[in-house]
Amino acid sequence: MKNNRVKRIGVLTGGGDCPGLNAVIRGVAKPAHDNGLSVLGIQDGFEGLVTGKAIELYNKDVSGILAQGGSILGSSNKGDPFHWPEQFDDEIKIVDRSERAMRNYEAWDLDVLIAIGGDGTMHISQKLSDMGMNIVGVPKTIDNDLEATDQTFGHDSAIFVVSEALDRLHTTASTHHRVMVLEAMGRYAGWIALHGGLAGGADIILIPEIPFDWEVVYDKVIQRNMRGKRFSIICIAEGAKAIDGNIVVKAKDIKRTDPIQLGGVAELVTRMITDNTGLETRYTVLGHLQRGGSPTPYDRILSTKFGTYAIELALKKKFDRMVALKGNEITSVKIKEAIADQKLVKPTDQAVKAAVAVGVSFGTEKL
Ligand code: F6P
Repeated sequence: MKNNRVKRIGVLTGGGDCPGLNAVIRGVAKPAHDNGLSVLGIQDGFEGLVTGKAIELYNKDVSGILAQGGSILGSSNKGDPFHWPEQFDDEIKIVDRSERAMRNYEAWDLDVLIAIGGDGTMHISQKLSDMGMNIVGVPKTIDNDLEATDQTFGHDSAIFVVSEALDRLHTTASTHHRVMVLEAMGRYAGWIALHGGLAGGADIILIPEIPFDWEVVYDKVIQRNMRGKRFSIICIAEGAKAIDGNIVVKAKDIKRTDPIQLGGVAELVTRMITDNTGLETRYTVLGHLQRGGSPTPYDRILSTKFGTYAIELALKKKFDRMVALKGNEITSVKIKEAIADQKLVKPTDQAVKAAVAVGVSFGTEKL
């Protein structure tokens, strides 16, 4: 680092996209420019770090992007330098390309890399930091499953989409006296289905952390019907499974950091309820609607706070740390701590207790 002062930063967005990425990029770049730093935008996440794809980000490039969904830099969940898919003849092999990532970082003359991403991005960041790269992480994911921060940006926008969808499903469900099943994202953590379901008044919330009992689900919709509530709303996370059942896998792709693509559990639940209760049931899969579009005001504010705090850390040379929200304060934690545990829903969480108190079933008698 010339003159021992941070002069040039790189920024990338890794993993699945979510609303607020551009707000963070803006939050990073504007104060960086004001402090005389140059900013390099690495394209398509870690993929660009390995292949050398990047663009200079000037002040004009980050104007007008606060409310814009997606990432102006692109993102990828297939660019893990330590799990790099390379084509050999007619076979794809997974190889380690982390040396290339280090070489590009040095060739670009970067003093620090701001890595905006979720769990996967933080794991990669820790390994690159162990190799000598200066990193500051910013926690992103609609899933909200990073233990070290009270909230990740993107989650609020995702649950806004879920609750709006549930509001719409309510009116058609009550009109046609149907059971409506909404599949939300959430592979191993059920925060989107839990918070979205609570906000949207779901009658049943099914999440990966609480395996459900089919009989309890059938009983809940039948009981509601018998009490004159001739419709039911179920909000289910894509990674939810029945006791003794398996998660429903849609496809596998070894190029991805996590090779499993989930999807289909709402269809299964719909079929089972129809067959076992006789009630007319329909399902909707929200999919990537939860990841696209403009961030909510909450996420715009959180993203701006996260981005600007990341630059403060970089200027103070507090590397190897991830920005975090604790209560109402923005602070930072060691990346190692941030990836130690995944934040999963516990039956003792206030949101679960509140849901139960207003009559929501989690598909089990034992919580
Ligand atoms: O990690 C965020 C997430 O939204 C998960 O909830 C979901 O399973 C996954 O991304 C979907 O990723 P992709 O768009 O690569 O299929």
